[in-house]
Amino acid sequence: MELRKAIGNRRSIRFLLPHRPVEREKIQRMLEAARLASHWGNVNSLRAIVIERDQAPKDVLEALPSPVGGYQIQLAPVVIVWYVETAAADHVGERLRELVKAGAIGYGDNKVKQLEETLVPLFAQIAPALKVPGLNEVDCGQGIAQATLMAFEQGLGTCCLGSGNPDAVRVKLGLPDSCRVLVSQTVGYPAENSEAGGQRPRLPFEELFHLNGYGKPFPRSGAVVEELRRDGMIQDSAPLPWREAELLYLRKALELKGEGLI
Ligand SMILES: Cc1cc2nc3c(=O)[nH]c(=O)nc-3n(C[C@H](O)[C@H](O)[C@H](O)COP(=O)(O)O)c2cc1C
Repeated sequence: MELRKAIGNRRSIRFLLPHRPVEREKIQRMLEAARLASHWGNVNSLRAIVIERDQAPKDVLEALPSPVGGYQIQLAPVVIVWYVETAAADHVGERLRELVKAGAIGYGDNKVKQLEETLVPLFAQIAPALKVPGLNEVDCGQGIAQATLMAFEQGLGTCCLGSGNPDAVRVKLGLPDSCRVLVSQTVGYPAENSEAGGQRPRLPFEELFHLNGYGKPFPRSGAVVEELRRDGMIQDSAPLPWREAELLYLRKALELKGEGLI
Protein backbone atom coordinates (compact mmCIF):
# COMPACT_ATOMS: atom_id res chain seq x y z
CA MET A 1 0.00 0.00 0.00
CA GLU A 2 1.19 3.47 -0.77
CA LEU A 3 2.90 5.09 2.23
CA ARG A 4 0.99 8.38 2.11
CA LYS A 5 -2.39 6.63 2.08
CA ALA A 6 -1.29 4.34 4.87
CA ILE A 7 -0.22 7.27 7.06
CA GLY A 8 -3.52 9.04 6.35
CA ASN A 9 -5.81 6.10 6.93
CA ARG A 10 -4.12 4.45 9.86
CA ARG A 11 -5.89 5.22 13.07
CA SER A 12 -6.17 3.77 16.52
CA ILE A 13 -8.80 1.06 16.34
CA ARG A 14 -10.40 0.53 19.72
CA PHE A 15 -13.17 -1.83 18.66
CA LEU A 16 -11.90 -5.24 17.56
CA LEU A 17 -13.62 -8.50 16.67
CA PRO A 18 -12.99 -10.65 19.75
CA HIS A 19 -13.94 -13.91 18.03
CA ARG A 20 -11.56 -13.63 15.08
CA PRO A 21 -8.01 -14.76 15.85
CA VAL A 22 -5.05 -13.08 14.18
CA GLU A 23 -2.79 -15.27 12.07
CA ARG A 24 0.71 -15.67 13.58
CA GLU A 25 2.31 -14.76 10.25
CA LYS A 26 0.66 -11.35 10.42
CA ILE A 27 2.07 -10.75 13.88
CA GLN A 28 5.47 -11.97 12.71
CA ARG A 29 5.41 -9.42 9.89
CA MET A 30 4.75 -6.69 12.46
CA LEU A 31 7.70 -7.87 14.53
CA GLU A 32 9.92 -8.08 11.45
CA ALA A 33 9.01 -4.47 10.63
CA ALA A 34 9.83 -3.38 14.20
CA ARG A 35 13.18 -5.15 14.08
CA LEU A 36 14.28 -3.17 11.04
CA ALA A 37 13.71 0.24 12.63
CA SER A 38 16.68 2.52 13.27
CA HIS A 39 18.20 2.54 16.75
CA TRP A 40 21.07 4.50 18.28
CA GLY A 41 24.23 2.38 18.16
CA ASN A 42 22.16 -0.27 16.39
CA VAL A 43 21.61 -1.92 19.78
CA ASN A 44 17.99 -3.02 19.15
CA SER A 45 16.62 -2.41 22.63
CA LEU A 46 12.99 -2.86 21.51
CA ARG A 47 11.56 -6.19 22.63
CA ALA A 48 8.05 -7.60 22.89
CA ILE A 49 5.93 -10.36 24.36
CA VAL A 50 3.08 -11.38 22.11
CA ILE A 51 0.08 -12.57 24.06
CA GLU A 52 -2.63 -14.55 22.27
CA ARG A 53 -5.90 -14.54 24.19
CA ASP A 54 -6.83 -18.10 23.16
CA GLN A 55 -3.37 -19.59 23.77
CA ALA A 56 -1.65 -17.78 26.64
CA PRO A 57 -1.76 -19.22 30.15
CA LYS A 58 -4.14 -17.61 32.65
CA ASP A 59 -1.41 -15.94 34.71
CA VAL A 60 0.01 -14.25 31.59
CA LEU A 61 -3.45 -13.00 30.57
CA GLU A 62 -3.99 -11.68 34.06
CA ALA A 63 -0.74 -9.73 33.84
CA LEU A 64 -2.16 -7.59 31.06
CA PRO A 65 -2.72 -4.01 32.19
CA SER A 66 -6.18 -2.50 32.55
CA PRO A 67 -5.44 0.99 31.33
CA VAL A 68 -7.84 3.71 30.32
CA GLY A 69 -10.07 1.89 27.87
CA GLY A 70 -9.87 -1.49 29.63
CA TYR A 71 -12.55 -2.82 27.27
CA GLN A 72 -9.96 -2.67 24.54
CA ILE A 73 -7.78 -5.27 26.25
CA GLN A 74 -10.83 -7.47 26.79
CA LEU A 75 -11.78 -7.35 23.09
CA ALA A 76 -8.30 -7.90 21.67
CA PRO A 77 -7.41 -11.39 20.40
CA VAL A 78 -3.72 -10.41 20.58
CA VAL A 79 -1.87 -7.95 22.77
CA ILE A 80 1.76 -7.10 22.10
CA VAL A 81 3.50 -5.85 25.22
CA TRP A 82 6.40 -3.76 23.94
CA TYR A 83 9.29 -3.15 26.29
CA VAL A 84 12.81 -1.81 26.25
CA GLU A 85 15.71 -4.06 27.29
CA THR A 86 18.16 -1.48 28.65
CA ALA A 87 20.91 -4.11 28.93
CA ALA A 88 21.12 -3.99 25.13
CA ALA A 89 23.23 -0.85 25.61
CA ASP A 90 25.96 -3.01 27.20
CA HIS A 91 26.63 -4.55 23.80
CA VAL A 92 27.06 -1.31 21.91
CA GLY A 93 30.74 -2.11 21.15
CA GLU A 94 29.80 -5.29 19.32
CA ARG A 95 27.02 -3.52 17.44
CA LEU A 96 29.35 -0.71 16.33
CA ARG A 97 31.91 -3.23 15.08
CA GLU A 98 29.15 -4.87 13.03
CA LEU A 99 28.20 -1.51 11.54
CA VAL A 100 31.77 -0.73 10.50
CA LYS A 101 32.16 -4.22 9.04
CA ALA A 102 28.91 -3.72 7.12
CA GLY A 103 30.23 -0.49 5.63
CA ALA A 104 27.43 1.50 7.24
CA ILE A 105 29.56 3.97 9.20
CA GLY A 106 32.95 5.54 8.57
CA TYR A 107 35.25 5.58 5.59
CA GLY A 108 38.97 5.35 4.89
CA ASP A 109 41.86 3.23 6.19
CA ASN A 110 41.70 4.56 9.73
CA LYS A 111 38.15 3.63 10.56
CA VAL A 112 38.84 0.44 12.51
CA LYS A 113 41.54 2.16 14.59
CA GLN A 114 39.23 5.10 15.34
CA LEU A 115 36.40 2.74 16.16
CA GLU A 116 38.46 0.85 18.75
CA GLU A 117 40.28 3.85 20.18
CA THR A 118 37.51 6.45 20.18
CA LEU A 119 33.98 5.33 19.43
CA VAL A 120 33.79 2.07 21.38
CA PRO A 121 35.32 3.56 24.59
CA LEU A 122 33.08 6.64 24.27
CA PHE A 123 29.91 4.58 23.97
CA ALA A 124 31.03 2.29 26.80
CA GLN A 125 31.33 5.37 28.96
CA ILE A 126 27.94 6.85 28.07
CA ALA A 127 26.01 3.55 27.88
CA PRO A 128 24.71 3.81 31.49
CA ALA A 129 23.31 7.29 30.80
CA LEU A 130 21.65 5.97 27.64
CA LYS A 131 19.72 3.39 29.63
CA VAL A 132 17.46 5.94 31.33
CA PRO A 133 14.19 6.92 29.64
CA GLY A 134 15.01 9.01 26.60
CA LEU A 135 16.73 8.00 23.39
CA ASN A 136 15.81 4.34 23.77
CA GLU A 137 12.14 5.24 23.92
CA VAL A 138 12.45 7.30 20.74
CA ASP A 139 13.98 4.36 18.95
CA CYS A 140 11.47 1.92 20.31
CA GLY A 141 8.71 4.26 19.15
CA GLN A 142 10.08 4.09 15.64
CA GLY A 143 9.90 0.30 15.75
CA ILE A 144 6.36 0.30 17.14
CA ALA A 145 5.31 2.78 14.43
CA GLN A 146 6.68 0.50 11.71
CA ALA A 147 4.87 -2.48 13.26
CA THR A 148 1.67 -0.42 13.39
CA LEU A 149 1.85 0.44 9.70
CA MET A 150 2.53 -3.22 8.90
CA ALA A 151 -0.55 -4.22 10.91
CA PHE A 152 -2.64 -1.67 9.04
CA GLU A 153 -1.35 -2.88 5.68
CA GLN A 154 -2.51 -6.40 6.57
CA GLY A 155 -6.05 -5.29 7.42
CA LEU A 156 -5.52 -5.35 11.18
CA GLY A 157 -6.49 -2.73 13.74
CA THR A 158 -4.31 -1.76 16.68
CA CYS A 159 -4.31 0.66 19.57
CA CYS A 160 -1.44 1.47 21.91
CA LEU A 161 -2.39 1.49 25.58
CA GLY A 162 -0.35 2.96 28.38
CA SER A 163 -0.34 1.51 31.85
CA GLY A 164 -0.59 3.41 35.12
CA ASN A 165 1.96 1.05 36.61
CA PRO A 166 4.27 -0.33 33.92
CA ASP A 167 6.64 -1.76 36.49
CA ALA A 168 3.88 -3.93 37.97
CA VAL A 169 3.22 -5.29 34.46
CA ARG A 170 6.94 -6.00 34.08
CA VAL A 171 7.05 -7.95 37.33
CA LYS A 172 3.86 -9.90 36.54
CA LEU A 173 5.24 -10.87 33.14
CA GLY A 174 8.50 -12.05 34.70
CA LEU A 175 10.70 -9.58 32.83
CA PRO A 176 14.15 -8.84 34.29
CA ASP A 177 14.85 -5.61 36.23
CA SER A 178 16.76 -4.27 33.23
CA CYS A 179 13.51 -4.00 31.25
CA ARG A 180 10.98 -1.17 31.09
CA VAL A 181 7.46 -1.87 29.83
CA LEU A 182 6.54 0.77 27.26
CA VAL A 183 3.08 0.12 25.95
CA SER A 184 0.58 -2.65 25.27
CA GLN A 185 -0.67 -2.75 21.70
CA THR A 186 -3.98 -4.44 21.04
CA VAL A 187 -4.18 -6.20 17.68
CA GLY A 188 -7.14 -7.71 15.89
CA TYR A 189 -9.56 -7.40 13.02
CA PRO A 190 -11.50 -4.13 13.21
CA ALA A 191 -15.15 -4.25 14.25
CA GLU A 192 -15.53 -0.63 13.17
CA ASN A 193 -15.63 0.70 9.65
CA SER A 194 -12.16 1.33 8.25
CA GLU A 195 -12.68 5.09 8.54
CA ALA A 196 -13.15 4.64 12.30
CA GLY A 197 -15.12 7.87 12.50
CA GLY A 198 -12.66 9.94 10.48
CA GLN A 199 -9.14 11.25 10.84
CA ARG A 200 -8.42 12.31 14.40
CA PRO A 201 -7.79 15.99 15.09
CA ARG A 202 -4.26 17.35 15.52
CA LEU A 203 -2.83 20.61 16.84
CA PRO A 204 -2.16 23.23 14.16
CA PHE A 205 0.98 22.54 12.09
CA GLU A 206 2.39 26.02 12.81
CA GLU A 207 2.19 25.40 16.56
CA LEU A 208 4.28 22.28 16.31
CA PHE A 209 7.18 22.99 13.98
CA HIS A 210 9.75 25.79 13.77
CA LEU A 211 12.19 26.89 11.10
CA ASN A 212 15.67 28.25 11.80
CA GLY A 213 14.90 29.10 15.40
CA TYR A 214 12.30 28.68 18.13
CA GLY A 215 9.13 30.66 17.70
CA LYS A 216 9.40 31.00 13.94
CA PRO A 217 6.71 28.71 12.55
CA PHE A 218 7.75 26.44 9.70
CA PRO A 219 5.82 27.93 6.74
CA ARG A 220 3.09 25.55 5.66
CA SER A 221 2.66 25.51 1.91
CA GLY A 222 -0.97 25.25 0.86
CA ALA A 223 0.09 23.52 -2.34
CA VAL A 224 1.75 20.72 -0.37
CA VAL A 225 -1.31 20.38 1.84
CA GLU A 226 -3.51 20.12 -1.25
CA GLU A 227 -1.21 17.50 -2.76
CA LEU A 228 -1.32 15.44 0.45
CA ARG A 229 -5.11 15.78 0.53
CA ARG A 230 -5.31 14.47 -3.03
CA ASP A 231 -3.06 11.58 -2.03
CA GLY A 232 -5.34 10.75 0.91
CA MET A 233 -2.80 11.51 3.63
CA ILE A 234 -4.50 14.60 5.03
CA GLN A 235 -8.25 14.24 5.54
CA ASP A 236 -11.03 16.21 7.21
CA SER A 237 -10.97 15.83 10.96
CA ALA A 238 -13.34 13.42 12.69
CA PRO A 239 -16.14 12.91 13.42
CA LEU A 240 -17.97 11.70 10.35
CA PRO A 241 -21.70 12.52 10.69
CA TRP A 242 -22.66 8.93 11.44
CA ARG A 243 -19.96 8.21 14.05
CA GLU A 244 -22.24 8.36 17.10
CA ALA A 245 -24.62 5.89 15.43
CA GLU A 246 -21.68 3.61 14.67
CA LEU A 247 -20.53 3.77 18.32
CA LEU A 248 -24.02 2.81 19.46
CA TYR A 249 -24.01 -0.10 17.03
CA LEU A 250 -20.56 -1.26 18.21
CA ARG A 251 -21.61 -1.06 21.82
CA LYS A 252 -24.60 -3.32 21.16
CA ALA A 253 -22.80 -5.73 18.84
CA LEU A 254 -19.84 -6.20 21.18
CA GLU A 255 -22.05 -6.25 24.29
CA LEU A 256 -19.97 -3.57 25.96
CA LYS A 257 -21.12 -3.19 29.53
CA GLY A 258 -19.39 -0.02 30.71
CA GLU A 259 -20.53 3.57 30.40
CA GLY A 260 -18.24 6.14 28.86
CA LEU A 261 -14.56 5.63 28.27
CA ILE A 262 -13.73 2.58 30.36
C1 LIG B 1 2.24 5.57 23.55
C2 LIG B 1 0.75 5.67 23.37
C3 LIG B 1 -0.08 5.40 24.44
C4 LIG B 1 -1.48 5.46 24.29
N1 LIG B 1 -2.30 5.13 25.33
C5 LIG B 1 -3.62 5.06 25.13
C6 LIG B 1 -4.50 4.57 26.17
O1 LIG B 1 -4.05 4.23 27.27
N2 LIG B 1 -5.83 4.49 25.91
C7 LIG B 1 -6.34 4.84 24.69
O2 LIG B 1 -7.56 4.72 24.50
N3 LIG B 1 -5.54 5.30 23.70
C8 LIG B 1 -4.21 5.40 23.88
N4 LIG B 1 -3.39 5.81 22.84
C9 LIG B 1 -3.97 6.18 21.54
C10 LIG B 1 -4.06 7.71 21.38
O3 LIG B 1 -5.07 8.21 22.18
C11 LIG B 1 -4.29 8.00 19.89
O4 LIG B 1 -3.11 7.73 19.18
C12 LIG B 1 -4.73 9.44 19.64
O5 LIG B 1 -5.99 9.66 20.18
C13 LIG B 1 -4.75 9.79 18.15
O6 LIG B 1 -5.59 8.94 17.43
P1 LIG B 1 -5.09 8.07 16.21
O7 LIG B 1 -4.00 7.17 16.70
O8 LIG B 1 -6.28 7.35 15.73
O9 LIG B 1 -4.59 9.03 15.17
C14 LIG B 1 -2.01 5.81 23.02
C15 LIG B 1 -1.15 6.09 21.94
C16 LIG B 1 0.20 6.02 22.11
C17 LIG B 1 1.09 6.31 20.92
